Amino acid sequence: MLRTVVLISGHGSNLRAFLGACADGTVPATVVAVGADSEAPGLEHARSAGIPVFVEPLERGVDRDAWGDRLADVVESCAPDLVILSGFMRVLPPTFVHRFAPMIINTHPSFLPEFPGAHAVRDASAAGVTETGASVIVVDDGVDTGPILAQRRVPVLDGDTETVLHDRIKIVERELLAEVVRDLAARGSAVLQEN
Ligand code: GAR
Repeated sequence: MLRTVVLISGHGSNLRAFLGACADGTVPATVVAVGADSEAPGLEHARSAGIPVFVEPLERGVDRDAWGDRLADVVESCAPDLVILSGFMRVLPPTFVHRFAPMIINTHPSFLPEFPGAHAVRDASAAGVTETGASVIVVDDGVDTGPILAQRRVPVLDGDTETVLHDRIKIVERELLAEVVRDLAARGSAVLQEN
């Protein structure tokens, strides 16, 4: 059973799906805590499942490295085997990443290296591509630049709004995350070193 800490910033629909996959045994993992950089609505999914939550706000003017250290201290106190960024919309300082590397992964709503950053779905829509995708990567010091663990194409359909396209991508993100976590539970960090 992999002990995971999940970090979110928003509605946490992927977190909700991951909690469901842990609860029904689809994924051999347990979420020991959920953290956020603000009072994210998605924290409710953890609270209603009885999972501890923590919030470490990154306010304007706050020293980013000090914030990263505080966040890392809380995450480390949960003794996770794996840290999952699931819609966590802050760039983590290298000091944070290095404390958990390589057991820190991120889900992203594009076929990386296409459309990195915070607006991947909007950027894909604006570019007029006929397909985009979803990826799960290892987090490194860059923005969405880490080794790719799993990815799959998702078509852009006529009439797609950004929300409709994003919802279709998230379905794939959830499948990829489950596949990666199953693989990590079975084979450990050897999976990460192959990439
Ligand atoms: C997901 O699509 C996730 O990949 C994305 O935010 C969404 C969160 O949705 N993350 C990024 O774009 C990170 N660069 P959710 O809050 O409904 O799970």
